[in-house]
Amino acid sequence: AIEKTYSMLKPDAVRNRHMGEIIARIERSGLTIERMELGMVTPEQAAANYAEHEGKPFYNGLIEYITSGPVVKMVVSGEGAVKKMRTLMGATNPAEAAPGTIRGDFGLIMDENVIHGSDSPESAEREIGVFFGA
Ligand code: CMP
Repeated sequence: AIEKTYSMLKPDAVRNRHMGEIIARIERSGLTIERMELGMVTPEQAAANYAEHEGKPFYNGLIEYITSGPVVKMVVSGEGAVKKMRTLMGATNPAEAAPGTIRGDFGLIMDENVIHGSDSPESAEREIGVFFGA
């Protein structure tokens, strides 16, 4: 099915000047970037997006990191877009992500893992609402 997913190039991707290469990979995969905006994540957006991690040991660092500099917020669409983006991204921990994946090639550590992608069409709808409004 044609799906939408929310994807976000995290502050380390922007800081390390990897935006262009990552966006090129998304386009080459056949997915379509429908919306894209470079800007900061507000503390409110961070809390809403990471509510499931509240209380975990890495939560405070995660909020600090995701609000530490500009990110690229994207709505990506296409056939099986949710799973396709997650395949392109690779494992959550860059140290375990396969070569050729975005995290495998551009990431080094778990806490700064380059890119976010929704884990289901339902999460995508919620996250698109958080970052682009309903
Ligand atoms: P992501 O899955 O995009 O969103 C939550 C982030 O928390 C995750 O990427 C990691 O960057 C970070 N994180 C740090 N430690 C952990 C952990 N033990 N388990 C899951 N995520 C973690």
